[in-house]
Amino acid sequence: MSIAGHDGSLGREIDARAALIDACRALNARGVNQGKAGNASVRWDRGSRAGLLVTPSALPYDRMRPDDIVWLSLELAGSGGAAGGDVAAVVDSAGRRPSSEWRIHRDIYQHRPEAAAVLHAHPPHATALACLPEGQSSGIPAFHYMVAVAGGVDIRCAAYATFGSPALSEATLAALAGRRACLMAHHGIVALGASLDAALSLAEEVESLARMYLLARQLGTPALLDEAEMKRVLALFADYRPDQAPEAG
Ligand code: 13P
Repeated sequence: MSIAGHDGSLGREIDARAALIDACRALNARGVNQGKAGNASVRWDRGSRAGLLVTPSALPYDRMRPDDIVWLSLELAGSGGAAGGDVAAVVDSAGRRPSSEWRIHRDIYQHRPEAAAVLHAHPPHATALACLPEGQSSGIPAFHYMVAVAGGVDIRCAAYATFGSPALSEATLAALAGRRACLMAHHGIVALGASLDAALSLAEEVESLARMYLLARQLGTPALLDEAEMKRVLALFADYRPDQAPEAG
């Protein structure tokens, strides 16, 4: 299944809303997420008002309809102002409740101009790794050259903070510095992309890498590629996978 990206191909807002739901269902169908976990967004401006479309909180994806998707302004004050960690206090003009992780989505669009889509999921292997002290300190190291797919020499793990909190968004943004994906301690992953398709395929790749890494660890201590080799791989990605070229920083 192809998910339209936010490159003009989504066209109308109704199509973008439908594409978001398709992406979430694809995450579940591909084993990268399950149940109501996770959330998804695309950058979506309304005229001169910069904003995003994000999935609603705690609604099963098979029951989600385009009307349930929430539009939020990127100008939502600071860390949510009086809303603090209370998602119910942030609703759109039609009274819909956005994902509890709306801050992560908003903050990524505010700080990462190249991001057009953001996915958060709870993939079994990546999340298992993010629950181990070693996974939390080292994330997914360069045991395989494809780690470069996230834009750097490793895939970091964001420090734990309560779901929906400003602290979790800060930790996630920090782990994403110079990267397009990260693990989240005791929680899951975030992947961003220049389109929904790119973010979806990156989320799948991260879960697959975590699975391989955990498998290798069961058999012994995985050998790691050195930094010089990873830099070569990152340089090659510029031609091999232009959409997955190294991130700056
Ligand atoms: P939402 O349903 O509020 O998006 O929460 C799901 C989740 O994974 C929170 O981290």
